Amino acid sequence: MVNEDEARDWNGETGRYWATHAEHYDAMLARLTPHLLDAAGIRPGDRVLDIGCGCGTTALLAAGRGARVLGADLSGPMLAVARERAAGRDGIRFDQADVQVHDFGAEVFDLALSRFGVMFFDDPLAAFTNVTRALRPGGRVAFLCWRELRENQHRALPLDVIGRYADTSGVTSPGPGMFSFARPEYLREVLTGAGLTGAGVDELREPVRLGADAASAADFLRHGAMFRAILARCPADTVERATAALTEALVPYQTPDGVWLESAAWLVTARKP
Ligand SMILES: C[S@@+](CC[C@H](N)C(=O)[O-])C[C@H]1O[C@@H](n2cnc3c(N)ncnc32)[C@H](O)[C@@H]1O
Repeated sequence: MVNEDEARDWNGETGRYWATHAEHYDAMLARLTPHLLDAAGIRPGDRVLDIGCGCGTTALLAAGRGARVLGADLSGPMLAVARERAAGRDGIRFDQADVQVHDFGAEVFDLALSRFGVMFFDDPLAAFTNVTRALRPGGRVAFLCWRELRENQHRALPLDVIGRYADTSGVTSPGPGMFSFARPEYLREVLTGAGLTGAGVDELREPVRLGADAASAADFLRHGAMFRAILARCPADTVERATAALTEALVPYQTPDGVWLESAAWLVTARKP
């Protein structure tokens, strides 16, 4: 058994939160997603693996471009949403599987893509080696992962505010997690080690939408995995004060179209020789 902690999280509160807020996450990432799809260069008939497909958004978009798609994910609650969204559609399937170790077969896919689903492996090299095995020769990889915390205002700003009330140390500790692929040298090392070539690691800067207004954005952040874990150790009145301070800090970012903060990701492409 590998990735046990991640499997527990994504099948527990974290996965359930994503599942019940699937539309919110999609709206949050709406400016980033088209870059991934363009880089993936999906052609009708392509066989596509969506790594850590979650609630199925990118798998459905790939299927909409004529691909035959397998979405693979650890999370039962998120896959339930994905299957519901894909009901009645041909050419798309979702399997509960650990991409690091699951046997997808050899030389099956033309493309492996992922929107922020590749940063949670215990052993990234083993995971990408497994993905490479499943790609046909000439097959492509395209994914998004986050740059470092300080480049991501949508996390750094809330963290600074919450840090006035709670212990935020350990948020960027090494190991699987949101920022595990932040260093491009490490990313390239993993891709090359997994047998992929021609790695492109391009910076992507786009705003992300956290909510309709400051209060809903603060509420969304406060219940998401990162801040829920930090605030879980605090008494209720501290959580209340931290949430109020976060709401106040987000007010200047409120626009008629919601609360937008800056984000920074890597848009990564590579192929199997
Ligand atoms: C940040 S979410 C992104 C979900 C989806 N790609 C999206 O953009 O909405 C990360 C996803 O990766 C999945 N995941 C993490 N580790 C995994 C693994 N070893 N195998 C398969 N899926 C995994 C999680 O269950 C979760 O759905």
